[in-house]
Parts: sequence; structure tokens; C-alpha cells
Amino acid sequence: MTLRKNMHELEAQLTQLSAQEGLAFVADLFSGKVTFSTSLGQEDQVITQLIAHANLPVSIFSLDTGRLFPETLDLLSRTEAKYKQSIKVYYPTTDSVENLVTKIGINGFYDSVDNRKSCCFVRKVEPLRRALAGNDVWVTGLRAEQSANRSDMKRIVWDEANQILKYNPLMDWTFDDMIAYINEKKIPYNPLHNKGFISIGCAPCTRAIMEGEDARAGRWWWEESKKECGLHAK
Ligand code: ADX
Ligand code: SF4
Repeated sequence: MTLRKNMHELEAQLTQLSAQEGLAFVADLFSGKVTFSTSLGQEDQVITQLIAHANLPVSIFSLDTGRLFPETLDLLSRTEAKYKQSIKVYYPTTDSVENLVTKIGINGFYDSVDNRKSCCFVRKVEPLRRALAGNDVWVTGLRAEQSANRSDMKRIVWDEANQILKYNPLMDWTFDDMIAYINEKKIPYNPLHNKGFISIGCAPCTRAIMEGEDARAGRWWWEESKKECGLHAK
């Protein structure tokens, strides 16, 4: 109950603050126990710039699934160099990937939703748990506008699956706000964005979108159901 009340208060406080101010506020309040997950997407590049610019005590990590686009890994390296900011990379465990591939095949995620979820679990969800361990707050680049599934999100929520507070500083940013900020600050971004890719995940599970399509239509495009991988379970 106390936590709920605190979260309610925190949400009210964060509503008054910009993303930059909110990040600084949270970093100070939970000193040393705030970590940010970057997929190197445009939202995440904005947050990395905000953290680096203000030299905030927020660690940054990325989950390398082993199936990312080379452009994404290249961007990781360029981002570290530009902002002199290390990004810790987490990998799936060798045993779990070997067992998964033996069981479902190297591209078995196309065969069923269950296979796809198993792959996302091994390559993202389990490494995420290790990355979050020991922290109080998990910062993400989620925006409410990204999908219907995310439209009712809050700035700060309790993530039951990972037993951690989750903070979404760009919750109310529009796509246009984000692009304007990236251009203004000359933030490096994935060249795939200029080729019709909006939301970018693993290479075999992401395609470019067509005019008028939903921003997340290119993710797990062969599936009908909701386009989430389990990192952000509701
Ligand atoms: S996903 O659930 O569909 O994969 P999405 O790509 O929209 O998520 O990204 C939302 C947020 O999840 C990102 O802003 C980032 O914080 C986190 N995230 C997603 N993929 C990764 C990744 N590979 N490594 C680290 N964080 C990630
Ligand atoms: Fe596996 Fe595709 Fe999920 Fe990546 S997005 S972890 S390749 S199913």
C-alpha cells in the first residue's frame, strides 16, 4: 500500500518535470541503483544523450540477442565513442541458446507463437533479469504513442515480473518531438530508420513498414497477436 502511495506521489512529481529533470530527480532519489536499457532505438538514443549530457549516475546496458542487425551493433559502438559512455552488453547463456536452437531450429521462431516466445525469453527476458538485478529503477524508452497496448501507460510503474520500479521518461513524447530533439542535438541513429524501419528489434523479426502502417507493424510481422516480446509484460 505504501509503495502504491509513493508511486502515486512520484508520478505526480514526475508529471511536473521534463524528461531531463525527471531523470536527474530519479537518479538522485535512487542514487546508484538506476539502470537504463537501450535497444539503440531512437527513443533510447535520446535517453542516452540526456544521461551523458548531464553525467547522471545511471548505468546503461543493452541486450545483444545474437540476432541483431549489424547496423545496431555498429551504432552501439559509435554511441559509446561519441558520449564516452560505456554500455554494458548482456548475452543469453550459452547452454540456453544451444538448447533452444536444438529444440526449435535456428529460425524456429517463425513456426509458432510458443517458439517465438521461447526465443525471446532465452535471448532477451532472462538476460534482462540479470541486467536489472541489484537495481531499484529500470529506465526504458517506452512512449505511450507507440501502440494501443502502451497508450494507457504511466511514467512510473511497478514491474511485477522483474520486481523493480520502471520509469519511462519519454512517456508523453510524440514521434515528432523525438525526431526534432535528435536533429537538434545531432544524436547518432540507426541508418535503417532512413530505409523505412521504425521500431527495430532482431533482424529476422523486423521488417520495414509501408506508408500508413502502424509504427510496430514491422515487428514479428507474421503474427496476428499483440506485438510484444515479453520484456514489457503487463
Ligand atoms: S520490445 O519489447 O518490442 O522489444 P521495444 O523495441 O519497443 O521493445 O523497446 C522498448 C524499450 O525496451 C526500449 O526503449 C528499451 O528500453 C527496451 N529494450 C528493447 N529491446 C532491448 C534490447 N535489445 N536491449 C536493451 N533494452 C531493450
Ligand atoms: Fe528471437 Fe526474434 Fe525474439 Fe529476437 S525477436 S529473441 S530472434 S524471436
